[in-house]
Amino acid sequence: MMKPTLMRPGGLPETASTPVVTPLMPSVVYASETPDRLDDQYEGRAQGYTYAREGHPNADVLARRVDAMEAAPQPGLVVGSGMAAVTAVLLGLCKAGDHVVGGDQLYGRSLRMMRDDLPRLGIATSLADPTDVGAVAAALRPETRLVLIEVVSNPTLRIADVQGIADLCRETGVLLVVDNTFTTPRAVRPFELGADVVLHSVTKLLAGHSDVTLGWVAAREADHAKAIYDFAVTTGLTPSPFDCWLAERGLMSFDLRFDRAEATAARLADHLAAQPGVKRVLYPTRPDHPDRARAQGLLQGRGCNMVSFELEGGRAEANAFTRGADQIAFAPTLGDVGTTLSHPASSSHRALTPEAREKLGMSEGFFRVSVGLEDPDALIAAFDAGLAAVAARK
Ligand SMILES: Cc1ncc(COP(=O)(O)O)c(C=O)c1O
Repeated sequence: MMKPTLMRPGGLPETASTPVVTPLMPSVVYASETPDRLDDQYEGRAQGYTYAREGHPNADVLARRVDAMEAAPQPGLVVGSGMAAVTAVLLGLCKAGDHVVGGDQLYGRSLRMMRDDLPRLGIATSLADPTDVGAVAAALRPETRLVLIEVVSNPTLRIADVQGIADLCRETGVLLVVDNTFTTPRAVRPFELGADVVLHSVTKLLAGHSDVTLGWVAAREADHAKAIYDFAVTTGLTPSPFDCWLAERGLMSFDLRFDRAEATAARLADHLAAQPGVKRVLYPTRPDHPDRARAQGLLQGRGCNMVSFELEGGRAEANAFTRGADQIAFAPTLGDVGTTLSHPASSSHRALTPEAREKLGMSEGFFRVSVGLEDPDALIAAFDAGLAAVAARK
């Protein structure tokens, strides 16, 4: 309860009842009764907050919810973005002289950390294909501290051999860090497969409305959790209470949103695969997915909400498609209530050469779709409008 002071004499009104919604608590600082009570807090005899950068109630409420979804062995931490979570893990757990292995199709900024930032700080890095446990094993060195992978690659939707890599990491004493943003605990819970650290961009499916930027991270071991917490608090990777409050609200409908988007994604994938002008479709539960058998086991039969497809043709066809499919936001994010369409060659993967993109299977006609909650028939009609615009060029 807020204590009345000279400056803020109002305090809070008396109430014999309690709110059903988590109150938003933007307070940066918390007042204590006495120095002895403050000692109790700092020394762990009493629970409480001191300064919001070190932790605040809205972040903790949200963290406990994601902890439960991920079956986190230690309490997790909410931070200011998904990249703040990646940074807190890499810099909280590694030191100069260590080596890190990353999946070769990580999210673009995670790849940049691997290529530029970690080496600049004296942490050597290698990239390896996470669908091939042999390639990851070959990349390990005696000084390898951790392996960072995503379960499903972006935007080619290849499925990592999470179990194989978890076994390899356990045998070699290397930490396994899994970014579970794309798949979410609805499809896979990496701690149950042996991951040591799990993280999310909460910005995406968990919060779900493209109105907050947040991350979450949890570790299996208490000393790893403490190292990540200390780094995040010292470097100020703190989340805003309002963002946490909004994300907690978004999370309440997460299961429903995920299931609905997934059902529509499966329908859209099958529909696109049957259309002329579409060269190929990638969706984990389709029989033609290159990692279908692994997807079935790992994702427990789920396909999630992301679909990728390739149009016949090049940039001109891609331009015609986005013009024709103008009811769909052409925007490089994922996990929103609305469907979004992204074109890796002109956005997330524009820094690669056309040859490097081609090697990854990303031509100028390649699109990634994050399916939202629209009426499925209306959504399919919007895609058909895009395909019709491409066909009209001929
Ligand atoms: C798989 C994955 N990890 C991490 C991030 C970074 O998250 P944020 O944008 O919240 O920093 C993203 C963002 O798109 C992502 O797709």
